[in-house]
Amino acid sequence: MTVDYESASRFYDASRSAGPLTVRMLARLLNVGPSCGVLDIGCGTGNFMMALGKRAASVVGVDTSPGMLSQAAGKGLEGQLVRGDALALPFADGAFDAAYGVQVLHHLRDKAAAVREAYRVLKRGGVLALQYCSRAQLQTFCCYHYFPAALPIDQERIPDTPAVLELLAGAGFIDCRVEACPMEGRSTGRFYIENPEDYLSEEYRAGNSTFALMAERDIEEGCRRIRADLQSGDADKIAAEFERRARAGIGRVSFAYARKAASTGALHG
Ligand SMILES: C[S@@+](CC[C@H](N)C(=O)[O-])C[C@H]1O[C@@H](n2cnc3c(N)ncnc32)[C@H](O)[C@@H]1O
Repeated sequence: MTVDYESASRFYDASRSAGPLTVRMLARLLNVGPSCGVLDIGCGTGNFMMALGKRAASVVGVDTSPGMLSQAAGKGLEGQLVRGDALALPFADGAFDAAYGVQVLHHLRDKAAAVREAYRVLKRGGVLALQYCSRAQLQTFCCYHYFPAALPIDQERIPDTPAVLELLAGAGFIDCRVEACPMEGRSTGRFYIENPEDYLSEEYRAGNSTFALMAERDIEEGCRRIRADLQSGDADKIAAEFERRARAGIGRVSFAYARKAASTGALHG
């Protein structure tokens, strides 16, 4: 089942933003600089484009959802927004120095085809970075404590680290690596830094595609448990314990990144 980002687009930014530590990490992994042309695959409402566009020569965002693109356009960002599919990118071979996708991989029907497309549109020596939550990182979200039915849904659609590395290598990338993102401060982003009460809001849930894939009764049961914990005072303690685990250890999201070889390696006689 695909997720309808048309209705979610109006509420998406209620819970998502481009955290400064994540932006800094992405810029470092991609070597973003004043001469760099960058592609944002699945750019959504353009939050990462806005942040990275300031550091790059140009940034282009591609997304299938007109609603998400129109939210991005409303921000007056300098980059170019293009409606298109990650599985058949509407760009020439070697058009970009760097490309990235934040929280998009799990939406793609054919992940291998999408990574091959990213490889195609990169210049030689270009870098691709994909942000995702590893299997272990998923366990640090209290969302799954309150909504246990969400865990198998996300485990099924979000590839774990070995699978992401395999996708990169399978497309021809070299130097395939993974780094966990630092945890952002509590003031940035309500998706990565959870507040159980937020899950009671339909608008907040609309920004998290997992809820679009869950049965209504499972959502209601999770909300009932949150309300009970809010009343008893346990909700904050539970969220704090999950967040402590993430901060003490592996964080909540990772970037897998890899390079397109600078030369074909062909021998000249
Ligand atoms: C979770 S959102 C992430 C948005 C943005 N990267 C961010 O982190 O704020 C996933 C985005 O991927 C887009 N998407 C889903 N399938 C896609 C595809 N096949 N090609 C391009 N974009 C796609 C959705 O429309 C949505 O905007």
